Amino acid sequence: MKRVTLVDVFKHRVTQKYLQRSGINHAVTVTGYAFEMALEEGVDPDLATKSALLHDMGHYEWYRDGKWDYEEYRKHDIHAIKGAERAHKLLVRLGEDRLAAKEVSLAVLLHTDSYLPFGLDDKRTTLQDVVTRADEKDEQPLGMHHYKKMDKSEAVQLLHALDQRIEQVLEQKEKLSG
Ligand SMILES: [Fe+2]
Repeated sequence: MKRVTLVDVFKHRVTQKYLQRSGINHAVTVTGYAFEMALEEGVDPDLATKSALLHDMGHYEWYRDGKWDYEEYRKHDIHAIKGAERAHKLLVRLGEDRLAAKEVSLAVLLHTDSYLPFGLDDKRTTLQDVVTRADEKDEQPLGMHHYKKMDKSEAVQLLHALDQRIEQVLEQKEKLSG
């Protein structure tokens, strides 16, 4: 089965629609961090990077009196729940393996516990922990990391380079196990 690439995922109109809100720069930066951390931790870099790219696709904008209101947003926030469902639907639509789509969806669901009545420290799998730490590494106060700019063409270039590195790692693994 042909691998669904990060570029495939990124270019889909659903991704384009939702990543405009949470920021392409943040999504792509976190994807790069997740790749490096996945290698360090020995988790699947394909799953880690897809989860990272899509982790904030459930974000929406909360305006009050025409102004972005971060406090209001935090109070009502369920972006991880929305994102988990959107990521799953999108990946299945792109022909992703169902189990992989579920792993990614769970990593999106659990990348933050800010919306939950309990913490998730020490409860995450290594994959889920990688995605959480990659996200936290790019975070800035008051959600400013969502406003960093990046051109679509630059994003595609960076993701394409990551796709090539991921495929190298996966090929290497196959050789070792085969
Ligand atoms: Fe994030």
